[in-house]
Amino acid sequence: MKIIDNWKSIDFKKVLDLYDSVGWSAYTNDPDTLLKAFENTTYVLLALEGDKVVGALRSVSDEVSIHYLQDILINPEFQKKGLGRKLLEKSLDRFKEVRTHMILTDDEEKQLLFYQSLGYKNTKSLKDIPLNTFVKMNGVELS
Ligand SMILES: CC(C)(COP(=O)(O)OP(=O)(O)OC[C@H]1O[C@@H](n2cnc3c(N)ncnc32)[C@H](O)[C@@H]1OP(=O)(O)O)[C@@H](O)C(=O)NCCC(=O)NCCS
Repeated sequence: MKIIDNWKSIDFKKVLDLYDSVGWSAYTNDPDTLLKAFENTTYVLLALEGDKVVGALRSVSDEVSIHYLQDILINPEFQKKGLGRKLLEKSLDRFKEVRTHMILTDDEEKQLLFYQSLGYKNTKSLKDIPLNTFVKMNGVELS
């Protein structure tokens, strides 16, 4: 297993195969948009097994105030083996000078456990330093 930060050295179709493997069809149905997102991402990591892309992470940051984790995905055959942790720890280390690390995630137990195990706190659970997270999404009626 190899982790690289130069995603442009890899055939982008292999990245699409990874997004396909976790069913993220909103991305795979529109490869040009995903490519644009990659091009504008501050830090990308890919995990390679042979010539297959089995994991990816995309972080967006201003290098000072905010490190936002946009995507992290591991091919299901390679999940629960510590690879997601490895990628996210690498990104947290890359942005260790940054004050706030954020992620917006689905309300699923396995994702909550994953982020909690890496030191993230759900703002809903905070008592001593109460915070709220607000979100607005284009084209989505949030209620
Ligand atoms: C979420 C995801 C990235 C985790 O990656 P992973 O490589 O399977 O996770 P790891 O093996 O590194 O697990 C790290 C920790 O997360 C937790 N965890 C991960 N998967 C879990 C699961 N299915 N159930 C419970 N806890 C889980 C464990 O607490 C684990 O702790 P440990 O290191 O002490 O064992 C992976 O499941 C995935 O790609 N899912 C599909 C895409 C997705 O939902 N991405 C997140 C979008 S917000």
